[in-house]
Amino acid sequence: MPDTIVILDFGSQYTQLIARRVRELHVYSELLPWDAPAERALALHPKGWILSGGPASVYEPGAPTLPAYVLESGLPVLGICYGMQLITQAMGGRVVPAGQREYGPATIHTLSENPLLPHGDHSVWMSHGDRIEALPPGFVALASTSNSPFAAMSSADGRYYGLQFHPEVHHTPGGKEILRRFVVEICGAHPDWTPESIIAESVARIRQQVGGERVLAAVSGGVDSSVATALVHRAVGDQLSAVFVDTGMLRLHEREQVERAFRQNLGLELVTVNAVEEFLDRLEGVTDPEQKRRVIGETFIRIFEAEARRLGQPPFLVQGTIYPDVVESSGPDRNKAQKIKSHHNVGGLPPDMQFQLVEPLRYLFKDEVRAVGEALGLPAELVWRQPFPGPGLAVRCLGEITWDRLERLRAADAIFTGELEAAGLLNQRLADEPGQIAQAFAVLLPVRSVGVMGDSRTYQEAVVLRAVTTEDFMTADWARLPADLLARVANRIVNEVQGVNRVTYDITSKPPATIEWE
Ligand code: XMP
Repeated sequence: MPDTIVILDFGSQYTQLIARRVRELHVYSELLPWDAPAERALALHPKGWILSGGPASVYEPGAPTLPAYVLESGLPVLGICYGMQLITQAMGGRVVPAGQREYGPATIHTLSENPLLPHGDHSVWMSHGDRIEALPPGFVALASTSNSPFAAMSSADGRYYGLQFHPEVHHTPGGKEILRRFVVEICGAHPDWTPESIIAESVARIRQQVGGERVLAAVSGGVDSSVATALVHRAVGDQLSAVFVDTGMLRLHEREQVERAFRQNLGLELVTVNAVEEFLDRLEGVTDPEQKRRVIGETFIRIFEAEARRLGQPPFLVQGTIYPDVVESSGPDRNKAQKIKSHHNVGGLPPDMQFQLVEPLRYLFKDEVRAVGEALGLPAELVWRQPFPGPGLAVRCLGEITWDRLERLRAADAIFTGELEAAGLLNQRLADEPGQIAQAFAVLLPVRSVGVMGDSRTYQEAVVLRAVTTEDFMTADWARLPADLLARVANRIVNEVQGVNRVTYDITSKPPATIEWE
């Protein structure tokens, strides 16, 4: 068990970021809802606690409270925003409405030498509606702003710390050092959570779960299923059968890349099922987006079931579930969004199949999944892929899906993403930096327009280019791409892709649009 920091989630939009920042320090952290049972939190044997921010006010009836086990544990506690206010209230200080919500950048000045904050001025990010009017007895202010005398505080015994600002966000440049001081120096956690230790621990856990039984994996070409499969292969070798279904909805050269990665890099006997014809047959005449998704999901399950039977029905199935999926389905009332699109995870779990799940990425963030993938020897082109929807190009090929139209889309998409990569603009290693392109692709419209090529009239289809910046894919903005890059891409597509005579750039944000067109 690695040294662990437990983060109690009081509902802030930044809670997952806190966990990621701690993990970036190579210390394992786990997120628990603030009202998780004490046994669950204590079973993790934490070295310290972080209390997240949250939207409530500590003085409101029914507001989330500070669990007694945190106070009784004797371990260091860092409260951020709402977390700081909880500590204040619990230890006898006073929290009141701020009158005006403070949101945005601020500068704090440290007031004394202390173990948490490097001495001096720091730019920080504030976001709070309440303020601390009186510190608890025995607490001292560590920093102030022109607005607030208590921008940071600690108890005299050095056990409790509070920050009014958010050290976890990019807008607090010194935040990582503050968290490091808390986690490594104050809590004494050893920074030994590395890709190698993650692999060693996962391998042991997988072997224990699976024993000598057979395991099945569905590889989709996506990062998560690839890394999960590679980890299980490292753990149980030939007991694993990995199946890759070519749906015909893949990107240019994707099938070859996946086959090469698994067969050559990992020495794994990947079974490729060529199901292109079956998918195209079943999609014939289907133009409704939801119907497309249903047909693809069902067809995938049918093919996968047949493959599982052929392989003697292994009792275990690998799933690429990652930590944000786990947290989001168990956290406080978030993401109870209305269904906009049904997300069939092609390559995911057939709902009525009888498998025991092996989920080796269940506690990993995406950046950790990538680091583990690289450490396992998967190629960078696979590990650093941009996100790709389960139904693949089907949701970008508007109107009826035919082989010719898919080929057209594939060619246009490869030109666009290739030019972005060549310009250094589509780099997933930087995807967390503000303003970086998170996803970019081409869409083929079932609309023809008139053009002129040489001396002849053309009447052909239109391609849309879509490139977005986003932090969480829930909202997104269109990327401000350089005009000359767009010009080059448009020119190349019209010249090189048969059947396309017009290229447009999508300048709608999400909302009101979505990232994909279907
Ligand atoms: P939207 O279009 O909903 O997309 O703004 C948000 C993110 O989700 C991806 N996406 C999907 N992923 N199955 C998936 O696994 C799907 O059916 C699906 N539809 C959209 C999309 O690529 C974007 O990253």
